[in-house]
Amino acid sequence: MIHIGIIGLGAIGQRLIKQFNEHAEVEIVAVCDRMESLVHDTAASIDRVQAYTDYHELIADSKVDLVYVAVPPKFHHQIVMDVLQAKKHVLCEKPLANSLEEAQEMAEAAKKSGVVHAMNFPLNYEAGATKFAELIRQNYVGKLRRVQFTMHFPNWPRLWQQNDWVSGREQGGFVLEVGVHFIQQVIKIFGDVKNIQAQLELPADADKCETGIIATAELLDGTPVLIEGLSQIAGKEHIAFTAYGTDGVLSLENWGIVKGGKNGEELVEIPAADQPNNSLIEELVKAVNGQAAEIYNFEVGHQAQVVLEELRKL
Ligand SMILES: NC(=O)c1ccc[n+]([C@@H]2O[C@H](COP(=O)([O-])OP(=O)(O)OC[C@H]3O[C@@H](n4cnc5c(N)ncnc54)[C@H](O)[C@@H]3O)[C@@H](O)[C@H]2O)c1
Repeated sequence: MIHIGIIGLGAIGQRLIKQFNEHAEVEIVAVCDRMESLVHDTAASIDRVQAYTDYHELIADSKVDLVYVAVPPKFHHQIVMDVLQAKKHVLCEKPLANSLEEAQEMAEAAKKSGVVHAMNFPLNYEAGATKFAELIRQNYVGKLRRVQFTMHFPNWPRLWQQNDWVSGREQGGFVLEVGVHFIQQVIKIFGDVKNIQAQLELPADADKCETGIIATAELLDGTPVLIEGLSQIAGKEHIAFTAYGTDGVLSLENWGIVKGGKNGEELVEIPAADQPNNSLIEELVKAVNGQAAEIYNFEVGHQAQVVLEELRKL
């Protein structure tokens, strides 16, 4: 049994509590949030759990084997470094950090520590995204001509993620919050990215995050990468990750729907039900038990941060 401590009980912390609870080999033994009422309410819904408002106490709790860090990005560094210092396994929310320096330090410390260090990049475990990656490997699009990701939000922040930081310039914005998922996918599927040029649309209020981005980059072989995003627009939220090739087009839409077509044909939905049913928690359990596991570690988080920081450079 792996004993989990969770720091940060907001939107995503609650989402993972459900996933931890569904797994027979993990048990949540401690929860922490600096909002006392939230810790109280969350602890009341979990059996035999210790509640903390000071994260240091959760890390020091001898029952905790693995700490899940689900606080806003600018607090990841401090908390994760403390977890590593205590030599406990750690699962960190994306983005790894709130600057390149922080990300570098965390990735180096994690490597030295000998503990399991994992990121929550959920696309890697979802059928649509794994189908997309498989079809690319099978050369569905032919020779790659362009990779593109589009992020359109009628509302930013989205209605389910209202908090005091996600619309702020310091640690919010959709480039950081959503873009990082697709940066990680680009690097995983197509390899590293270079020559990043970004143009952000920024509101006059210097505390508010971007409302638009147009960025170009290149894969190492020179294939162009186009990133475009807009918020506060008409229409529905639309997220698309698309590969254009000499033979066809393949797109992952709205996180889970794969669409593809050979050149000259319509794009049609491609079922992804044949994909393995992977789960982050299952892979974490394997990793903590010393088995081979599909974990995206802090080095992966760091590589994504390198691109991310270029995109949000002012
Ligand atoms: N992997 C994903 O798909 C995904 C989705 C959404 C958010 N996230 C990431 O998860 C993290 C949290 O996002 P959220 O939407 O849940 O934010 P949130 O604001 O809803 O929740 C964060 C919680 O952390 C608490 N907190 C802040 N500092 C703390 C501290 N020092 N000690 C204890 N508690 C503290 C806050 O009180 C709050 O309850 C962010 O890094 C975000 O980027 C990941």
